[in-house]
Parts: sequence; C-alpha cells; structure tokens
Amino acid sequence: MPASSAPKSFPKTFSVKSFGCQMNVYDGERMAELLGAQGMTAVSGGEDADLVVLNTCHIRERATEKVYSDIGRLRREDGTAPLIAVAGCVAQAEGEEIMARAPSVKVVVGPQSYHHLPDMVARAAAGGRATETDMPAQAKFAALPKRRKSGPSAFLTVQEGCDKFCTYCVVPYTRGAEISRPFNDLVEEARLLVAGGAREITLLGQNVNAWTSEDDKGRTIGLDGLIRALAADPDLSRIRYTTSHPNDMTEGLIAAHGEIDKLMPFLHLPVQAGSDRVLAAMNRSHTVSSYLSLLDRIRAVRPDIAISGDFIVGFPGETPSEFNETVKLVEAVGYAQAFSFKYSPRPGTPAATMADHVPAVEMDERLQRLQAALQRSSLAFNQASIGRRCTVLVERRGKLPGQWLGKSPWLQSVHFIGDFAIGDLVDVELIEAGPNSLSGRVLQTPVE
Ligand code: 5AD
Ligand code: SF4
Repeated sequence: MPASSAPKSFPKTFSVKSFGCQMNVYDGERMAELLGAQGMTAVSGGEDADLVVLNTCHIRERATEKVYSDIGRLRREDGTAPLIAVAGCVAQAEGEEIMARAPSVKVVVGPQSYHHLPDMVARAAAGGRATETDMPAQAKFAALPKRRKSGPSAFLTVQEGCDKFCTYCVVPYTRGAEISRPFNDLVEEARLLVAGGAREITLLGQNVNAWTSEDDKGRTIGLDGLIRALAADPDLSRIRYTTSHPNDMTEGLIAAHGEIDKLMPFLHLPVQAGSDRVLAAMNRSHTVSSYLSLLDRIRAVRPDIAISGDFIVGFPGETPSEFNETVKLVEAVGYAQAFSFKYSPRPGTPAATMADHVPAVEMDERLQRLQAALQRSSLAFNQASIGRRCTVLVERRGKLPGQWLGKSPWLQSVHFIGDFAIGDLVDVELIEAGPNSLSGRVLQTPVE
C-alpha cells in the first residue's frame, strides 16, 4: 500500500501526540477518551497505531515544518502509513494547505471541532478526507464523553480563546474569541475528575482569569467564585489555575489567594518584557509599574506566593537598553520559574510586518542572558525554601530505588525517599535545592 493511502477499515488502535501548551494536553486527553469510547485502543509510541492524531501547536517557530516532518516520519519501512489526523492550532491556521501538500493526511480538525473526530475518522477510513475548522463556542464540550479516570493532578479547561490581541500572538486567530464554560458543567467535570483519582485540579484557559459565568443561584461570578465552589469538595486537596493576564487579576481573585487554603501559592503571570515602549508595541495594555504594583497587592495577602512568567526577547525594534530593562525586571520580581522565548514572527499577526527585526545572533545572545538571570532567580527562590515544611503531591517514581517525585505547593519538583504511592500527599521538609528541583526529608509529624 503506498504511504498516501489510508487503511480502508475503521482503525482499531490509535495514538494522540500533543505538542505545546497544557490546553493541548487537555484536548489530547479528551480526544483519546472520545476515540476510546468508540471502542478503539490507545497505544503508546504511535508508529504502530492504525490512527495517529498529531495535536499541534502554532505559537512559535517552524510549527508547520515540524508537522510535515512528523508526517514524513510516520511512514513505515514497508511503505505503509497510519491514518493521519492533524489537530490543534496548526490545523486551524493552515488546514487547507496541509490537505493540499500532504496527501497522507486524511483528517484536519481544529481545536473547537474535535468532538467530530470519530465521524471524520469514519469518513477517512471509508477512503475520503475530512476537514473541520469551524469555531462554534461551547458545542464541543457538551459532545464529549464524561470523564472517567484521572492521574493525581488533572487539567480542566474552563475558558478558551483570547480577545487581547497581543501583536505577536496567533492565539486569538487559532483559538478564537474568549468563551467561558458554564459553572455547572465545570463543577460536574471536577467532581468526575476527583472521583476518578484527581487530588489536584489545574484550571486552564488562555486567559483563565477572564473566566466568568452564572453560578447555581444565578449570580455572576468570576474565577475566584469557581475556585471557592470547587474547594468545597472535601476530596479535592489542591487547586491551581493558568494562564492569567495581568489586567484580569480582579480584587476577588487576589483576595482568594489569602483566603482559600486549597488554592496553591503559585501564580503564572506573564509580563513578556520589561520596557513600557515594548509592552505598548506588543499591545499588552499593562506597564511595568502596573505589573509590579499588582504583584505587591498579591504578595500582601500571600507573601510566600511563587511567581512565574513568560518572556519574549527580540520583539521587533527592541533595543539593547530596552532588553536590559527586562533583565532588571526579572531581578526585581524574583521569579520562582519562567518560560522565555525568542520572538518568532507569526503569519497574520501585526508584529510580523513591523520594521526592525532583531538579528538572530543578537536574539540568541539576549535569550542566553535572560535565561541566566531567570536561572539565578529560580535558584534563589528554591534556596530560600530550604527549611520549609510542606505537603508534596506524589506524581511518579524517581530514578533511584524508593525515590518518589512530586510537587510542592509552590510547584517545585521535590524528590524524596520512602514507601509511598502515586497520589499520596506526603509531608516533607525541604533540605536541598537546585534551580530545577529540591530534595525533601519525609516528616513523621504532619505539617500544620
Ligand atoms: N514569538 C515568541 N513567543 C511567543 N509567545 C506567544 N507568541 C509568541 C511569538 N510570536 C510566547 C508568549 C506567551 C507564550 C505562551 O508564548 O510568551 O505568553
Ligand atoms: Fe496571546 Fe496575548 Fe492572548 Fe496571551 S493574552 S493568548 S499572549 S494574545
């Protein structure tokens, strides 16, 4: 069978490979549940599966080329290939082109349409091809099967899309306008995740803190109201949320950090750059000083909160001294962790056509300097944690015999030795720190 022809019978096994953000991980899990509900069996690795779903990310460089090379790699030695479906944000942005350029791709499905995946796979298995990249709000979630089992730390998408239109970003085009899932649906999905084994839930959204809905009594609430409602479940121990926009940090949400024990002391609050001119050109609609005073207000109610961020170096027109302001900001904030990226022009975004693109060599140099500053910052944060007593949620086994890995309340990776199981909450004292992880000593008496 030539590589371009799909199997003519309905696939029996599948593999979903997710790239990029946590929301893609969530979407990948939901696609797997959906295919499982059709009687298909998940296989890891992928190459041998009858159906491979590539759940793609379009946020940065060479996303599309990566998809084409992944497609090429799926061709087997005997010339056959699995049935290939391209999902996620590259499918949304470049679906038509993929269909034209890659005959082995039989299904292209955008992030808001994947509830139709089984039908589309059926059409492809019958010898056709199927594309869906519509963006209807909400329909998807209602059409997905109910959640059944979960790891100790689960994702729950509460909000999707973005209306902020930062000038570098494709998300408003690939994920569409901001929508919030209804309160009751989320309470129900959280209940099922907890029943399925989750001890911690991370609420996800491109602008998660813009989430709003009516509660069960018809009152309009924000993310803090949802967190309060979920915290009432005695079997749920921890709640997190990501990613937040500084302008959507409401007073209620800030206050929640001082009031709700189950809300973990960690906040991912991207700033992107440390120069007000660059922030304005990025259309971030906050300044360095408004960001810093927001952090002061959050730290006033939760002094130990760990702050995380996203940074872009080499935005068009960024001068060396503007970049230095970013490094200064990192030093002022004391980030516990962060993600940093070289600016990558995204087709169709306003920044892609801006003048004064920063040369690649300069961009590399800035990224290295920023990452060194961020590394110092995380090391300092972790070292300051030595001596702290805290509870760690066990997520997996470590490499050494009897060693386990889990997360502290501040989202640090902590390893320790003992007789435990995945999903246990273990009290430890943090005794050693590196920039990326800490070691803990198991305590015999519980942490207050
Ligand atoms: N180039 C580089 N980084 C980007 N991000 C978003 N768009 C781009 C781009 N065009 C980064 C931002 C965002 C994170 C998810 O990805 O820092 O917060
Ligand atoms: Fe992209 Fe900005 Fe929206 Fe974040 S807030 S998803 S960076 S447009």
